[in-house]
Amino acid sequence: MAPVFYLFYMLCLNLSLLCVLFVVTWNLYWRGGFAWDGSLLHFNWHPVLMVSGLVILYGNAAVVYRIPFTWKQRKLVCKLVHAGMMFVALLLSVLGLSAVFDFHRGFNIPHLYSVHSWVGLSTVLLFSSQWILGLVGFLLPYSTPWIRSSLKPVHIWIGKVILVFGLVSCISGINEKLLLTLNGMIAVPYSTLPVEAVFVNFLGILIVAFGMSVFGILFVKKWQRPEDGPESTHLLLSEGTP
Ligand code: HEM
Repeated sequence: MAPVFYLFYMLCLNLSLLCVLFVVTWNLYWRGGFAWDGSLLHFNWHPVLMVSGLVILYGNAAVVYRIPFTWKQRKLVCKLVHAGMMFVALLLSVLGLSAVFDFHRGFNIPHLYSVHSWVGLSTVLLFSSQWILGLVGFLLPYSTPWIRSSLKPVHIWIGKVILVFGLVSCISGINEKLLLTLNGMIAVPYSTLPVEAVFVNFLGILIVAFGMSVFGILFVKKWQRPEDGPESTHLLLSEGTP
């Protein structure tokens, strides 16, 4: 069982690396690089931070409990790693949003006019609520075993919904950016499939493949972390299952 898991996990890690590499290369090579100064280059942080945070780091945090070598660790350690990675993912997403809102403000572009921005903002709001609920429900000491076991299926379901929303936001954002920028270039519009478009379309495929690899890992029941013993409490943080 473990070799097949690690095959999937390696695929997931390699796709993670490729997605980050592709989104950084796109913005460095074709879009002029990065700046945090309200210029056109300010926007370029948006796709990089959203793909790295809300999809890649989020997806990797979602499968942390499935890695067999972590099963020897106390569940509290895994919970802290999961929550910590999710916190960094949320932080990157909020920074990514602030980049695009600052950019829109600087260029007097209206806010929240597209379907991409509506789905995107809903994703980040859902993610923030899920993180706070996860902290209160699973890590703080006053949460009871009943609260934890009732919250767990909802947490897992919402977690998958956020990943789907994150993937939809990225694909719609990429499509919108290519249409907005390449169609502004009369010589080589999007429909003539210039090299940038091929490269970025491929990035879209890599992002979808990454999402599928995460869902593949989450789908297999026998790759779930075996349940620990009965509920136990820790001085500050409650460590019991789930
Ligand atoms: C999970 C990932 C993403 C989320 C949550 C997200 C969210 C948002 C939000 C809320 C806005 C509106 C900002 C405003 O109205 O001032 C926006 C704008 C934009 N985003 Fe994203 N985004 C994501 C990924 C991407 C990616 C990967 C790209 C690719 C370049 C992208 C391209 C754009 C573009 C071109 C705009 C400006 C046009 C518009 O407002 O729709 N986004 N995004």
